[in-house]
Amino acid sequence: MRESTLLTPKKIADNQSFLDWDTQPEMFKHYPQFCYRVPIADFPSLLWLKETRKITDERTVVNKPYRRLNVPSAGNLHPIEMYVQIRNVTGLLSGIYHFDVLHEELVMIAEIAGEGIEPYLGLNTRFNGAIVMLSLVPFRSGWKYGLRAWRYLYLDLGHQIATFVASVRHFGLSLTKMSVHNGLSQIMGMGYDETIAAVYGIGEPSTRPVKPLSKPLMHVQPTDYTLPIEQLYSEIQAQLPYTDVPLTAKRENFIALNTIRRSAREFNTDTIDDSALRELMQLPVPFSLEVLFVVLQAHSMQQGIYRNGKCDVDGNFLSEIVHLLLDQRFIAGANMVVLIYAEHFNAASHIEAGVYAQELYAACEYHGIGCSGIGAFYDHEASRWSDKSLLYAVAIGGKNDYRCTKRD
Ligand SMILES: Cc1cc2nc3c(=O)[nH]c(=O)nc-3n(C[C@H](O)[C@H](O)[C@H](O)COP(=O)(O)O)c2cc1C
Repeated sequence: MRESTLLTPKKIADNQSFLDWDTQPEMFKHYPQFCYRVPIADFPSLLWLKETRKITDERTVVNKPYRRLNVPSAGNLHPIEMYVQIRNVTGLLSGIYHFDVLHEELVMIAEIAGEGIEPYLGLNTRFNGAIVMLSLVPFRSGWKYGLRAWRYLYLDLGHQIATFVASVRHFGLSLTKMSVHNGLSQIMGMGYDETIAAVYGIGEPSTRPVKPLSKPLMHVQPTDYTLPIEQLYSEIQAQLPYTDVPLTAKRENFIALNTIRRSAREFNTDTIDDSALRELMQLPVPFSLEVLFVVLQAHSMQQGIYRNGKCDVDGNFLSEIVHLLLDQRFIAGANMVVLIYAEHFNAASHIEAGVYAQELYAACEYHGIGCSGIGAFYDHEASRWSDKSLLYAVAIGGKNDYRCTKRD
């Protein structure tokens, strides 16, 4: 997939066409009105679900609602949906539900008893609690980014998985790793335009036997329309869902940070302490990744490229890094850019890059620092600093409104 998703100066020049935002596919999936719905707020035991994915900013831009979520997303396109099978949770009918983020409701797609999705997860007994499924809706990102969207889908998914895991842990629950078999997306009623891409359990298997669902659930299109981007859809369908449980830092003020998190659109070089940059360098890095920290502007820290907490190559790389990241001007104000490379260019390494970047976002928000994921870069030029593939970059710098946001 790497070759067909590369960005080069020629591709950028050839692709300068105007994007008509009126043609943006719908960002939220809607199940029919006749489906049984329950407000998530009515179930305090499911607060972890509400904090996993929620709207945190809403405004009107050119007469259309513009919504931003607790998780970042390339182009703010949000190509993810959430489903949960619930069994034996007090007050809720056991069933398979869609989580409607727009209305903060659980929408029942099917009631369950002796049947369920467990057999698609290698379980032959009923799983009491919740089985969470995250799906990808490739056209939401493909609409803007074409095949390059393949990368952004999995990076976005990594951000969402990290937030989900942090939320579950914040509420004192633990996750069960699942082992997914083929056919889960089909039995969930999905077509070529949506695929289950990650699955986790919260609860425990019982001793009662379970049968597979006798027929697929109702099919509902995840967007109001879809254009054929065959290669993108088939690559995503061919991938088995991700099930690894990442390590995420536990922060007491998780809910506050989860609510205020934003991507920086500008930086103030002077409002950041070097100690915060050093702390960010200490965050645990998943095994699949190699991370380089390029210190661009600091008070007393040496400018240069840091590996494993030490400056490896001295120098001022500001203009090279800004150019690498497609000359996005606001990056010129960043104090540090984190370059996330991997030996293997595949879905799992992109998910893990997204998970790691989400940890950077959380740590930055905690320190009152600005941060933005950067998925747009010239791939060939990134090989100057590593023989691995660059998957993702994160720009970090001081906030302008530092005094109001710093948490003492
Ligand atoms: C995978 C990914 C790639 C991104 N790439 C860029 C980028 O190249 N340039 C940029 O300015 N922002 C980028 N962003 C930040 C998004 O634009 C931002 O998340 C989105 O506009 C929503 O805003 P919010 O994060 O404040 O909710 C990226 C975010 C993600 C998750």
